[in-house]
Amino acid sequence: ESFFSNTQQLTGKKVLITAGPTHEAIDPVRFIANHSSGKMGYALAEACAQQGAEVTLVSGPVSFSLHNNAIRLIKVTTAQQMYDACMNVFAEQDIAILAAAVADYTPVHPATEKIKKADGELILQLTKTKDILKSLGEIKTGAQLLVGFALETNNETANALHKLQTKNADLIVLNSMQDAGAAFGYDTNKVTIFDTAGNAFASDLVSKKTIANFIITVITNKLYDKA
Ligand code: CTP
Ligand code: CA
Repeated sequence: ESFFSNTQQLTGKKVLITAGPTHEAIDPVRFIANHSSGKMGYALAEACAQQGAEVTLVSGPVSFSLHNNAIRLIKVTTAQQMYDACMNVFAEQDIAILAAAVADYTPVHPATEKIKKADGELILQLTKTKDILKSLGEIKTGAQLLVGFALETNNETANALHKLQTKNADLIVLNSMQDAGAAFGYDTNKVTIFDTAGNAFASDLVSKKTIANFIITVITNKLYDKA
């Protein structure tokens, strides 16, 4: 049931993938994070490698490991580390797929000792993290294909299209939160992929492995368009 699973659609291509959440320290024992499991990004990394690509996976903290040891794994914790790792390797990539759920804000002054409970409210000062997708969109060449994700709970299509434009991506994969069984933690997902020509490619609610191959097929068609 996977798409073109017996062909090598990405032979000779270098692919950068980000996956998982990032952790932003509040103090030595606490952090800000989100519900991302990393499953979608890891499924993409495995599927791209199976399709013949040379894969670099930049991963935030996740609770499982890779099956394919040909994949180059760069483990990071924070949004800043993920940004640095991506900037270091982006120039040599043909494709970048940013599936990570990067923290949008990080504590300005993480405490060096555990914060003790006290009377009154605790106010954390947060500063915005660097937007990796937007940064890569600013430096990408015409030959590089940049793919972002969007997770929305409302105005899904409009928000996804806005991200496609403002971040200068070639494709945006919209994760639907409307369907039970899609997104965080689940083994299944349902996506719609938007391109810059106004096309939308919708998947069914299927395994993340099948979604990965669906995304790869759309990417491959775009690469042929560019060439
Ligand atoms: N992204 C990124 N770096 C960030 C934040 C997001 O690279 N600091 C990427 C994500 O990996 C994803 C895309 O940008 O590919 C969209 O992420 P999303 O969180 O949906 O969008 P934001 O621009 O952060 O906007 P918001 O969370 O306010 O909807
Ligand atoms: Ca965000």
